[in-house]
Amino acid sequence: MAVSGKKIILGVTGGIAAYKAAEMASRLVRAGAELHVVMTAAAKQFVGPATFQGLTRRPVYENVIIEEKEGQIAHIDLADTADLVLIAPATAHTIARLAQGLADDMLTAVVLATRAPVWVAPAMNVNMYHHPAVQKNIDTLAGYGYRLIGPGRGRLACGWTGLGRLVEPDELFQAVETYFSEKESGGARLKGKKIIVTAGPTREALDPVRFFSNYSSGKMGYAIAEAAYRAGAEVTLITGPTALHPPFGVSVIRVESAREMFDALTRRFSDADAVVKAAAVADYRPAEISLGKIKKTEGPYVFKMVRNPDILKTLGQRKTDQLLVGFAAETDHLEENARKKLKDKHLDMLVANKAEDSFGKNTNTVTFYFADGKKQRFREMPKQHVAEKICEALARLMKVGERFDR
Ligand code: CTP
Repeated sequence: MAVSGKKIILGVTGGIAAYKAAEMASRLVRAGAELHVVMTAAAKQFVGPATFQGLTRRPVYENVIIEEKEGQIAHIDLADTADLVLIAPATAHTIARLAQGLADDMLTAVVLATRAPVWVAPAMNVNMYHHPAVQKNIDTLAGYGYRLIGPGRGRLACGWTGLGRLVEPDELFQAVETYFSEKESGGARLKGKKIIVTAGPTREALDPVRFFSNYSSGKMGYAIAEAAYRAGAEVTLITGPTALHPPFGVSVIRVESAREMFDALTRRFSDADAVVKAAAVADYRPAEISLGKIKKTEGPYVFKMVRNPDILKTLGQRKTDQLLVGFAAETDHLEENARKKLKDKHLDMLVANKAEDSFGKNTNTVTFYFADGKKQRFREMPKQHVAEKICEALARLMKVGERFDR
């Protein structure tokens, strides 16, 4: 088992789901992990440290100030030697502390000090989860490069039904196992493949202070870039303006307009094995960019917009053996529009979703359409999971050589 011998820090925070952390701890210990549990003060109100001490046969860490052992700075030692920090369950409060960069207890201090990957599995009431403050904090964590796992949807302990459940220990364990086995095999699935991912919106300037754009956050594209890197690919991320931090290990090219994205992509296309086009490209731009700021006058302001190049369609016409993956966010006739785009743009695969399921959100509900007519539907899941599914599909297409045949 890939988890065997790995030093994993399990952070447990104060929510009802803390009891599930005991199940998770037991799974990891049985799989041979060197598990260290760090509890927040509130977590101890839900589960006793003795439970984790018994399961791991190690002391449970709680206090950042008082050192148990002479000559040791426990939070730095833990942080330095960890292979993975997993916080499950993560309450809204701890998520807020992490977003702020606080270090007011052992767990937050370890997270700040570690260079290991940090995974956060939120669990809370559905209305708390949807509160803009929590969503903003979650976005901030994603921006730090932390991986958000879940939450799942279902009946919550508080009586409400919706998003907020801690992902089941089984699924969490699987994610940990997959992470280490991919790491061990050198992320063999996409090893050595050159993949270009585009992300975010484009901006189409009107004058020096105004532009046209859309609501794309870039989260989907960034998650794909990260997943492809983890799967061993050499990744170039061509991104429009977003508020996100680029994932570790990925080469980033920043662009603003559709035409800049077009140039950046076409310059690199011949060298690529695959292009995943998650960017929301503006179809139109103002016909003219005013050099000075446009001043208001009486009455309406009328101006003309002209078509931008369809980047993906152009690549579809030029492609030799590159795989092309497109996206479609539709408000109506999802399947019909998806199949039409797949065909018109000569794509190997198209990821389709309803616009309201995706824009600005951390989750997505997608269907994959393939050039051979097959389709694959998925339930709502975090964008990181969608990204992994896309990478799995890419690896499959590369292996099988099922390409769009022109
Ligand atoms: N796309 C592109 N260049 C454009 C417009 C879109 O490369 N000028 C790509 C997007 O990155 C996406 C796919 O084409 O992968 C579909 O984008 P979408 O905006 O849904 O489709 P359009 O072709 O623009 O069709 P419409 O706006 O009519 O729905």
